[in-house]
Amino acid sequence: ALKAVIFDLDGVIADTAVVHDAAWKRLASEIGVAFDDSMGERLKGVDRRGSLEILLERASRAYSEDEKEALASRKNDYYRQQIETFGPQNLLPGARHTVESVRRAGLKTALASASRNAPLLLERLGIASLFDYVVDANHIRRAKPDPEIFLAAAHGLGLEPSECLGVEDAAAGIASIHAAGMKAVGVGQAQALAEADLLVPNVAAFDIGLFTT
Ligand code: G6P
Ligand code: MG
Repeated sequence: ALKAVIFDLDGVIADTAVVHDAAWKRLASEIGVAFDDSMGERLKGVDRRGSLEILLERASRAYSEDEKEALASRKNDYYRQQIETFGPQNLLPGARHTVESVRRAGLKTALASASRNAPLLLERLGIASLFDYVVDANHIRRAKPDPEIFLAAAHGLGLEPSECLGVEDAAAGIASIHAAGMKAVGVGQAQALAEADLLVPNVAAFDIGLFTT
């Protein structure tokens, strides 16, 4: 039986997918890399370093390790500047209500975000106490679509993967959930999330009743 829901953060609960996207776009333009929507879609859910590597596929020259470190931290500075003023108003509509309904239904909740800014964001959004377990992205070695992060969330909750449901806005995230042996709910546009077991347009439309009754 279903015992927990594991949520992604950026683009599912927090209105930050656009902020990450804008920060990468700015970096790309500074180094002369073409950035389009399909690039933006590919970066979703992928960790910082992995995202940079994808961006640099289109670079006109090779970058050293040190340069890559500098580029990744420059992007993070851009991102951090934007979330400086973030508060509960930056939750996606219905996000708090959805997580609370999952808890009220007697299920556990966890967060599986690749973002090392996730703990800071949870505090600013005022929802840190709504999660029974938050995966520490610093301890994840293999980025989504690898199942590691969702498996770590299930483990942290003390549950079997088959007892958990994952919620994601990124194709890499849906693949990660499935590879972990869980059912996946996709949040957002159908094209990128074709593999999801259930698709909802936004987190407000996610109804836990569909899974518990
Ligand atoms: C999430 C976002 C990605 C971001 C990644 C790493 O998965 O969807 O866009 O690149 O986290 O975030 P960080 O805050 O650690 O750079
Ligand atoms: Mg996401």
